[in-house]
Amino acid sequence: MRVLSKAILAGTVLAMAMGAAQAVDPDDAIDYRKGVFQVFVWNMGPMGAMASGDRPFDRDVLAMHAEQLNRVADMPWQGYVDGSDLGNTGALPAVWTNRARFDQLAEEFQQATANLMTAVESGAGERELRGAVGAVGRSCRTCHDDFRQ
Ligand code: HEC
Repeated sequence: MRVLSKAILAGTVLAMAMGAAQAVDPDDAIDYRKGVFQVFVWNMGPMGAMASGDRPFDRDVLAMHAEQLNRVADMPWQGYVDGSDLGNTGALPAVWTNRARFDQLAEEFQQATANLMTAVESGAGERELRGAVGAVGRSCRTCHDDFRQ
């Protein structure tokens, strides 16, 4: 009997947790993904400036930002939930009407940050690192061109 009631309780808790996971408030999802993009730009800004020569090249600083950006590169996309096309968002409706392409660009972006990490970890030279940062920057722009207002 005790075992049975424990099983029922566990089932109830699980059902409640699943219900909570489904009921994502679209406004919270928008805030969430925009917050992650602030993390993106915080890390990309200094690296982009180094790549373009606007800021002195510093391998350690670049390595730190590359690692941080790579760590969060998969995070914004889960915020594009149903219903979050409306509201205080800078996303174009194309995210929802052309989701396959959006997902593909998100995937390519993660590949670009992973490639940058590989370059950092393999001790690549300054020119190669600038190139890898440039590829990440182009990946940001490619997606913004089609999916951001
Ligand atoms: C796969 C698509 C995609 C990629 C890759 C991408 N973005 Fe974005 N970005 C968006 C979309 C869509 C928005 C609109 C925000 C929203 O959903 O409300 C956005 C918004 C932003 C914003 C504004 C957030 C706000 O507060 O409104 C910043 C800053 C930003 N992106 C920076 C970057 C940087 C830097 C990179 C690359 C390191 C990047 N993004 C890569 C799609 C992308």
